Amino acid sequence: MTYQGVLHRYGHLLDLPAHTRPVSLLEGDTPLIPMPRLGAELGCELYVKFEGLNPTGSFKDRGMTAAISEALGRGAQTVICASTGNTAASAAAYAARSGLRAIVLIPEGKVAMGKLAGAVAYGAEVIQVQGSFDDALSLVVEITQKTPIALVNSINPYRIEGQKSAAFEICDSLGGAPDWLCLPVGNAGNITSYWAGFKQYHLINKTGLPQILGVQAEGAAPLVLGHPVEKPETVATAIRIGRPARGEQALEAAQESNGMIIAVSDEEILSTQRLLASEGVWVEPASAAGMAGLMARTAAGEFDPRGKRIVVVCTGHGLKDPAIVTESFQSPQIIPATYEALSSLVA
Ligand code: F0G
Repeated sequence: MTYQGVLHRYGHLLDLPAHTRPVSLLEGDTPLIPMPRLGAELGCELYVKFEGLNPTGSFKDRGMTAAISEALGRGAQTVICASTGNTAASAAAYAARSGLRAIVLIPEGKVAMGKLAGAVAYGAEVIQVQGSFDDALSLVVEITQKTPIALVNSINPYRIEGQKSAAFEICDSLGGAPDWLCLPVGNAGNITSYWAGFKQYHLINKTGLPQILGVQAEGAAPLVLGHPVEKPETVATAIRIGRPARGEQALEAAQESNGMIIAVSDEEILSTQRLLASEGVWVEPASAAGMAGLMARTAAGEFDPRGKRIVVVCTGHGLKDPAIVTESFQSPQIIPATYEALSSLVA
């Protein structure tokens, strides 16, 4: 049967209420792309789970299909989220699909253009907050406690349920869990979902458990520092978060899996973004953090990837944040439209 989305394929493994009314854009089923060149450099079997290939360009669609389907079935008319951009675009798309009103709160001036454009294109009401993502999330929590508006941030448990599907897919593709799973950590919903998903699949199918490497940006690393960050800053705006809602669970995932949560610098994130692109996979800056963490630990001699099977989760597409690339390159040279001009340059 043709693919029909995350709830159709894995709904029997997700804890969703009976009133759920599935809304799908055929999210999930993303490729696990082998990275033979980078893998050979590290001496490991390396894969990228490319979540940028979801319908709105990020992994958020896996959780959003579940959260919006539940909200719709419950009779909600309006959904709201705080977002660094990807959740906003995803909520907007799934709300549009279901005929719900979507309101998205974003930190003023700190959302990459591809994400903002997505939210606008899908018809969400976009509100900029004079503050951080964390401030916006507090507002969203308060308004959903006081009104019937439904919250679709990853505090919503159905988001976590939907996002478990990525762990199931990885086990299905590889025939078991990898040795390590490396991923960026922002509000900490995704690391929570992966760990829950791997544990559940292992209970049912004896797929084994990965060690989890969660990676934050140095300027927004509350889980590494052990305290909230009041003014988070990083070029990886998707993970510019100082008070992760699921921070405790992220730490548990790292601890239980015998993994760790570390921080990498913006320079490491950007150079790793280029490195992934050099093997054909262009991801947004935050999405390079997992790989950056793997590289940094390996270079520091604190991690030995040799002989291991490692999956790096790349959470969002490079097209989400084109300015990061175009700002730093010189605009391409201009030639007259003649064969001579071209051949003198390239032949
Ligand atoms: N990577 C990308 C591309 C993201 O957009 C996010 C989170 C993360 C990683 C971190 O995932 O929050 O589950 O730990 N973006 C949220 C948003 C905060 O609003 O789009 P997390």
